[in-house]
Amino acid sequence: MPAAAHEPEVIRDKAAMRAWSRRRRAEGKVVALVPTMGFLHDGHLSLVSAAVAAAAGPVAVVVSIYVNPSQFAPTEDLATYPSDFAGDLRKLAATGAVAAVFCPPDLYVRGGRPDASESGGAISCLEQGDGYGHETWIRVERLEKGLCGSSRPVFFRGVATVVAKLFNIVEPDIAVFGKKDYQQWRVICRMVHDLDFAIEIIGSEIVREADGLAMSSRNVHLSCEEREKALSISRSLVNARTAALNGNSHGQQIKDQIVQTLEEAGGQVDYVEIVEQESLTPVERIDRPAVICVAAWFGKVRLIDNIEIQPPS
Ligand code: PAF
Repeated sequence: MPAAAHEPEVIRDKAAMRAWSRRRRAEGKVVALVPTMGFLHDGHLSLVSAAVAAAAGPVAVVVSIYVNPSQFAPTEDLATYPSDFAGDLRKLAATGAVAAVFCPPDLYVRGGRPDASESGGAISCLEQGDGYGHETWIRVERLEKGLCGSSRPVFFRGVATVVAKLFNIVEPDIAVFGKKDYQQWRVICRMVHDLDFAIEIIGSEIVREADGLAMSSRNVHLSCEEREKALSISRSLVNARTAALNGNSHGQQIKDQIVQTLEEAGGQVDYVEIVEQESLTPVERIDRPAVICVAAWFGKVRLIDNIEIQPPS
């Protein structure tokens, strides 16, 4: 990736974004999209590098920054989700690799008719246009369930819908997603397959702090003590993978060990699951490519992490 700073063009308007992408493609460039919710860290910047690497030629990288309300339930942390737009722009400029930043003000408008079953009835009435807000959703029906979908029932329909909108507006050739959000990555791959989006989806490896903590915008909310305790997540995942590669393929034993480690560290476990890498179907034995996925609370912060395992054949 070039090291020289390069100010990305900031685009807010949907039509302007689409026209920009079409111009870049007419110039012979591959348009690569990196969707984010801002408060960027090195994990996001690695997605930019992955976009450049995947394009293998002239590329126009677009980073979208949009904190998507539709993927947060009313009880979740939308209001406190961290943001630093000026800092984000500085970091993206420093990569020298980002041509445009797309930050639309209004990709999703909550409607005037609360859907009590899915929102807890707490939707605020930000009525616009016809007063009914957003009515159309994309659901990846099987993959959105289980793992994070169990405790976050509106999350993946919000992600899939807004990502589909970004795809329709930016019209990228390539889009890059981090594998830290493993289920999200698989949901997007499936949506692209099922709906025939002509977009190549790249899954980019997890980026970790030196001590192993998976990078996340939410880490900023951890106290020093909570952050130290949260290291139990990556440590227990690495130990589990070592055990699996050394012949312990017994899924329940491995899960129990991780739960015990997290609870001893003071974490509150949301889930520990071992699933097939593509279908996300639970496996009882790690005798095929699998991924161990974890979500746990440390203080008021819910963290997710995972580790892929390719057992020896
Ligand atoms: O991973 C994220 O930051 C978000 O879920 C995404 C993909 C930008 C959709 O809002």
